[in-house]
Amino acid sequence: MKYLKIAAVAFALLAGGMNVEAENPENDWVTIQNGKMWKDLDGKDVQAHGAGFLKVGDTWYMIGEDRSNKWRPDVNMYSSKDLKNWKFERKIIKNGKTHPDLGDKRMIERPKLLYCPKTGKYVVWCHWEASDYSASEAGVFVSDTVNGEYKFHSGSRPLGVKSRDCNVFVDDDGTAYFISTIEENQHLGLFKLSDDYLEAVEYTELFRGMSREAPAIVKVDGTYYMLSSACTGWDPNPCMMSYSKSLTEGWSPLEQIGDDIAFDTQAASILKIEGTKGTVYLYVGDRWMDPDLPESKTIMFPISFGNNKCRFEYFDSFDLNVKTGEVENLTRSNRENMFKQTKKVIKRIVEK
Ligand code: GAL
Repeated sequence: MKYLKIAAVAFALLAGGMNVEAENPENDWVTIQNGKMWKDLDGKDVQAHGAGFLKVGDTWYMIGEDRSNKWRPDVNMYSSKDLKNWKFERKIIKNGKTHPDLGDKRMIERPKLLYCPKTGKYVVWCHWEASDYSASEAGVFVSDTVNGEYKFHSGSRPLGVKSRDCNVFVDDDGTAYFISTIEENQHLGLFKLSDDYLEAVEYTELFRGMSREAPAIVKVDGTYYMLSSACTGWDPNPCMMSYSKSLTEGWSPLEQIGDDIAFDTQAASILKIEGTKGTVYLYVGDRWMDPDLPESKTIMFPISFGNNKCRFEYFDSFDLNVKTGEVENLTRSNRENMFKQTKKVIKRIVEK
């Protein structure tokens, strides 16, 4: 009996110790390394370009273009609790299966994920395009579960407007918006969505004639900040920032942040990580054609907002703790990356 008691105490201590270890924030730190293909938990390349994110409970879901077959991207979904270890969930949208035209007459770019509290459904908005970019439509897909099979809802020009590069934004009051490059890449269109997030109900033209694309919006302390790029296809160009107190008006003049090629990226998403010790914002961008479409890299680094400014500085690697909302050990560009980026800057100057 005595031995049984000792064994029980030892087991309790061990189990307790294990718990302490599992809850120890030290273990929640991961190192994010830029410039390489991300690998999933099976060791395969993560293919989720133009990525969109949604947090459900303590899990981040990421969807994006699977460019392993270049111009016929399916949409992949991955999940992670720390933004480093990504589990491949499934192809949520499949060529030839989810819609007969997909992979043939239509392709998907920049898929973004929303959860609609009113209907309890998960909704994907994306660029729904023809191979020559003449369709200029938006696609909408719906699922009952976050990692389920998404069903086609619609593929059309929102409110009849030609629409390309896109993103989504949900305001504090739950109103969702689809924002896209409209009318042959001339302006940005901010489309307010219906309560079920399935239709565009009204739209506002922003940045008239300024040819902005790859928009990404975040709200920080009551101010909206938008990052966007110019339209230069797969080639990088400067990231510009604008801010406003209202989504539909009053956007400040565009201001360049970062270097002349946005550190060789184009914006896909801005993540807001709210932890127990603070909030950190992560920029997620695509380093396209590095060197070819399937090898395009997902790049992520912390950025910050305040007083109508955005600190946008590239880090080759950094440590991240999504539980506490902290970053540490921000390490600047290594020589190999700086060399590659300098070459792209020179190329752009020569082309100008
Ligand atoms: C970029 C756009 C990408 C893709 C590419 C095709 O301007 O941001 O999503 O459409 O053009 O050339």
